[in-house]
Amino acid sequence: MGSGPEKVAAFLDPVYIWVLLCVLEFNSVCGCSDELFIRPLSLVLSAAVRKGITEAVARAFKDTRVKAVVLCGENGKFCGGADIREFAKAMSGPPLVPMIHAIEAGEKPVVAAIEEMALGGGLELALGCHYRVAHAKARLGLPEVTLGLLPAAGGTQRLPRLTGIPAALDLITTGRHISAQEALKLGIVDRVTEGNAVEAAVELALSVVGRPLAPRRLSNHATPLPADLDGVFEEVLVQVKRRARGAMAPVACAKAVRAAAELPYSRGLECERELMNTLFTSGQARALQYCFFAQRAAGKWSLPNGARWDNSRPRAVHTAGVIGLGTMGRGIAVCLVKAGISVVAVETEEKQLDSGRRAVRGMLERDAKRRGVTAPLHMITFTLSMQQLRDVDLVIEAVFEDMALKKSVFAELSRVCRPNALLCTNTSGLDVDELASVTDRPPLVVGMHFFAPAHVMKLLEVICGPRSSPETVATAMTLGKRLGKVSVAVGNCPGFVGNRMLKLYLDQAHFLLEEGASPEQVDQALEEFGFALGIFKVADLSGLDIGWRVRKAAGLIGPDVDPKFPSRHRQGRRYCPLPDLLCEQGRLGQKSGRGWYLYDSAGGKEARPDPAISSFLQEYRLRYGISARRITEQEVVERCVFVLANEGFRILEDGMAAAPEDIDMVYVFGYGWPRHRGGPMFHAAQVGLATVLQRLEFYHRQNPDIPHLQPSTLLRRLVGARSPPMQQWKQHIRSINSQL
Ligand code: NAI
Repeated sequence: MGSGPEKVAAFLDPVYIWVLLCVLEFNSVCGCSDELFIRPLSLVLSAAVRKGITEAVARAFKDTRVKAVVLCGENGKFCGGADIREFAKAMSGPPLVPMIHAIEAGEKPVVAAIEEMALGGGLELALGCHYRVAHAKARLGLPEVTLGLLPAAGGTQRLPRLTGIPAALDLITTGRHISAQEALKLGIVDRVTEGNAVEAAVELALSVVGRPLAPRRLSNHATPLPADLDGVFEEVLVQVKRRARGAMAPVACAKAVRAAAELPYSRGLECERELMNTLFTSGQARALQYCFFAQRAAGKWSLPNGARWDNSRPRAVHTAGVIGLGTMGRGIAVCLVKAGISVVAVETEEKQLDSGRRAVRGMLERDAKRRGVTAPLHMITFTLSMQQLRDVDLVIEAVFEDMALKKSVFAELSRVCRPNALLCTNTSGLDVDELASVTDRPPLVVGMHFFAPAHVMKLLEVICGPRSSPETVATAMTLGKRLGKVSVAVGNCPGFVGNRMLKLYLDQAHFLLEEGASPEQVDQALEEFGFALGIFKVADLSGLDIGWRVRKAAGLIGPDVDPKFPSRHRQGRRYCPLPDLLCEQGRLGQKSGRGWYLYDSAGGKEARPDPAISSFLQEYRLRYGISARRITEQEVVERCVFVLANEGFRILEDGMAAAPEDIDMVYVFGYGWPRHRGGPMFHAAQVGLATVLQRLEFYHRQNPDIPHLQPSTLLRRLVGARSPPMQQWKQHIRSINSQL
């Protein structure tokens, strides 16, 4: 942990240069893998650091011996931006905007020496300097948009004046980080060095003493304008709305950049401030900041036996096996290879092996081409023989979702693999402990549930079976992190966390169709809410036969179901046979060219409403005597979204998730939940638990045969306790069987 800011003077001949060492606070995280690490998390512009910089710069400007100033960070790191923890408190210490103005307005050249990172307020500070030197490995960016904010220390006004509108819009509305080389190309930095950036900055500072500073003050510059200004902004607004529907921050960012195009600097700055105020007080910024912390907390797992993320050592994983090269196995193999792990991929038949091999190689080659490197094809072996798994450190099984098949695979793995190899399953919801029971090593069995496409989706659910050892859980969680995933530890129950909730969400959508809605109406309401895709589009994308198979396995479909007039009540509750009827017609989704929507061809991407579905639904309602009613957007969203939260409360009560934040991260990273709404649990808290309770009671009264609309005990208890903040929810859980 660093102390407060301090300065050191480096007296260099022939002029004195002040090198300001901003001692930036950082948190240290101790991992417990082979690679024990201490990693700076945030090198932040805290109140103490701002005070230090303000005072030291003022002194340096006053001191007649000082001819130039170099700003650098402590320990080779420039600055990671504002201290997010300060957002929730009243502002203290000197504000950033006047501090940066004072630097820019100074009569001595100030050079930023950017090592490792200049992000957010850190880059805005650098933009206020007259020159910028970056180390070749430094990353730069204005990621405020990802926290629901905008760069409000002049960043939206200075950057467009430096790079022009299109590049500034790109950086500010996406928040992406760029390399020092890209920053050099865009003109954001003046020099890039492979050597010591502070020394290079000092050298530059020495060389510019006495040169006029006015041309170096970005706030004085006129913004270079593209020929078709309106066209550029229209295009960006289309893009940002497509990327994050309903998100306010990217739109505000674009507006602020537009101000830089149309207004003088000082008025642009006012506009920036006004837009920031609107964002700052919006629920969206709170939700995004919540996600920022929840994502980091998700990796901190614990088990009832006291094992935790910080006291359990993961195993080193150098080689891994993947069994089954279907949709999931291919992506998993690609992830592993990209993380530097050698893979042995096993299939049952030559044909599948061949198509898996082509797919995996294609993915690796495309990725390597994009990154300008050689594809690591030598790191993967394709085989039909399980025997080749004898030396691997860990196996991830991704064969069909069939318990009997998976059990035979796990029994075989027990015989083939080294006694200490970890055995992991990618099952979507089967009992991990039942699988463990057929092996010779139940403590070394764990679920690693990836999401499709596995090399793209960020979520990994790590299913801790009751017998999974701390070392096994630690290894799976650490491996997930190494693969670039957000790993969330969950308990072993049907569907785990994500799919257990998804089933009920999907049920509501089906019931709404029965009652009078159309697939496109439901999808539109959910997309307006912010989901990347409506639930029926997602179902078509995944394939309707997946759920069909699961329902058959659960005994919901079988010979006792009347094929002409299937019952709408099964296993003591309401059941919607619509998706089964669709599958029977061969409408399996995108892959068959028809599902809830119509596609140009099998595998076609563009979903069009199908009049045949509309008449199919009308006939269905007629046959069952259901009179269609008008369903509002509010009802669609409330029933689908509140039922998710309601099940989330049950999951907490059952001890299958350690905290509401974990459930939210599962939904944000695995199910396209809009990040700016925090997650289903955060959303419920934001709407108000009493309102959620009241709406669920209302819908349950209307639909007494849908038990999942009945408010959960925990929700009732929390409302009874006057809706405490999320951090206190756990205190109201009376579970004695927590798996986490
Ligand atoms: P898939 O049907 O695309 O692929 C399964 C592959 O396993 C096939 O290529 C098959 O030839 C191979 N296979 C079957 N038995 C085998 C054996 N004994 N040895 C080696 N290979 C064998 O299935 P998909 O979609 O990849 O699913 C695999 C697993 O992942 C399932 O447990 C599924 O529930 C789970 N999952 C699927 C997701 C999805 O969106 N498709 C998402 C997350 C998990």
